[in-house]
Amino acid sequence: MKKICVITGGGSGMGLATARLMGKDHYIIICGRSVKKLENAVRELQEEGIEAEAFPCDVSDHISVERLADYAKGKGNVAAVVHAAGMSPHMGNAEQIMEVNALGTIHVNNAFYRVMEEGSCMIDVSSMSAYLTPKLIMPKSLYKYSVSDPELFMKKIMKRVGLFPKKVRAGVSYGISKHFVIWFAKQDAARFGEKGVRIISVSPGNFETPMGELEKEEADAYTKYCAIKRFGHVDEIAGLFAYCAGPGAGYLTGIDILCDGGLVASGINPLKKQR
Ligand SMILES: NC(=O)c1ccc[n+]([C@@H]2O[C@H](COP(=O)([O-])OP(=O)(O)OC[C@H]3O[C@@H](n4cnc5c(N)ncnc54)[C@H](OP(=O)(O)O)[C@@H]3O)[C@@H](O)[C@H]2O)c1
Repeated sequence: MKKICVITGGGSGMGLATARLMGKDHYIIICGRSVKKLENAVRELQEEGIEAEAFPCDVSDHISVERLADYAKGKGNVAAVVHAAGMSPHMGNAEQIMEVNALGTIHVNNAFYRVMEEGSCMIDVSSMSAYLTPKLIMPKSLYKYSVSDPELFMKKIMKRVGLFPKKVRAGVSYGISKHFVIWFAKQDAARFGEKGVRIISVSPGNFETPMGELEKEEADAYTKYCAIKRFGHVDEIAGLFAYCAGPGAGYLTGIDILCDGGLVASGINPLKKQR
């Protein structure tokens, strides 16, 4: 029985670096929307001797994610899922960002909950933005609807985001969506735990990826406040994902891990970009 590792957003950035690492002892299935990007990534992985294939999938579409989960299950034992697919403020509008980051996480957790077995691990990728976005604007009381009625959750949460001026809505949507990812992974720990499956969220700071490049101008302003004064390298987060998914982290679940080079620890005030 093959040990399968599914990586959403595996065609680039953190996802692709994770495929390289996890591919040492897993069969890799990477997914994303761009077929060309996935094909290039699979070629690169195969040239390095990694067994990998692509499965085009849009995480904001629940049928697409259900298909991915069923396909992965058909291939073997889904030992790890690294849900790295995401959209940043420079990549889409507020609604698209919420659909991919928040609704996408609901879809991925629910679809893979069905097919994952004892000993496996789900990792949902959040962001340091969840820590930096002022707590006051997080509509935490609405998060519970995501469990009972994702459609109603989306309606209510987008109504809340719509209260903000248009020019900040994408950023607000990103911060809320990633705060939600942490909440959703945490509340899912008990449900996954009953099956012997662990679930962890990881919140990266600024990393050198295609997304990191798009956000670079804004992100650069923060680097001087980091304890480690540079962007993170993808291998440094891939290593964390691989550790979290492995047996050494067998008692780790229901928790978020912030990997931001010490930026949040500096006490930075993101509204003023100073301490
Ligand atoms: N880089 C940073 O500084 C940073 C900081 C904090 C958090 N993060 C988070 O880290 C994760 C990985 O990002 P990255 O930096 O590695 O960026 P990236 O290279 O842009 O990777 C994101 C991947 O997500 C895929 N994706 C986007 N929308 C999707 C959808 N609807 N369905 C399926 N796949 C989708 C993209 O492929 P397609 O476009 O082909 O679909 C892309 O390959 C994201 O969740 C991001 O929010 C990144």
